[in-house]
Amino acid sequence: MNSRLLRIVRLSLLSLGLACMSSCSPAPSTSPEAQSTRAPENTQVDCAVDKCVALTFDDGPGRTTNSLLDELDKSDTPATFFLIGRQVQKYPKTVQRMANAGHQLGNHTWDHSDLTTLSDKQIKQKVAWTSAAIEKVTGDKPSVFRPPMGRHTPAIGKLIPLPLVLWDINTRDGRHHDPQQTISIAMDKVQPGSIILMHDVHATTVKAVPELISRLKAQGYTPVTVEQLLGGKLQNSVAYSFAPHAGVQR
Ligand code: NI
Repeated sequence: MNSRLLRIVRLSLLSLGLACMSSCSPAPSTSPEAQSTRAPENTQVDCAVDKCVALTFDDGPGRTTNSLLDELDKSDTPATFFLIGRQVQKYPKTVQRMANAGHQLGNHTWDHSDLTTLSDKQIKQKVAWTSAAIEKVTGDKPSVFRPPMGRHTPAIGKLIPLPLVLWDINTRDGRHHDPQQTISIAMDKVQPGSIILMHDVHATTVKAVPELISRLKAQGYTPVTVEQLLGGKLQNSVAYSFAPHAGVQR
């Protein structure tokens, strides 16, 4: 093959390759949002016997959420995220990454309204819009709901077609913005079956998480999703704030 012909062949191959990059099947993404695969549930753990704890993160996704996902990846720790619908629209790749990594996704209303100030119709809409936004991004509807600021009544609960998941430990991370306080509040109060409330939208919380996880593990705790903690037997409209059957008697 003479050199000119060789150059033509090379150019043809190159142009085919370029054409393919724009119009053939999409190239596999190497973005951090797409790199994880769904982690299997931790089947080695039985929360009726073992010391399980659920780390929960509210009000995201936001600008700091990807850093938190990096930290959770490093220690292979599952968590549960209660998402704001309009934030899901803003950060769809972050939500996809959460789902791909095996974290549990929950509904935290469209715009973090206090449900006790809304009409029944508004409550139903803000919950439905959020579930639809999460399903649009991940292909799955969220399986749990957390009312903003924990504010709810039995009548409000009846309007929600999901189990309500509260918490037994409020780290107050959004008030003090102090990683060491977040860790010490959680460690002082943790019991088998605890649900710990934090917020992935604060850099100070992201900073607290690696040490919190290692201290929990050092005390024999296994972080799991809310679904695994509560045993997957949750009823819609009923509120849960910890797993009473978990591990040692409370
Ligand atoms: Ni909230």
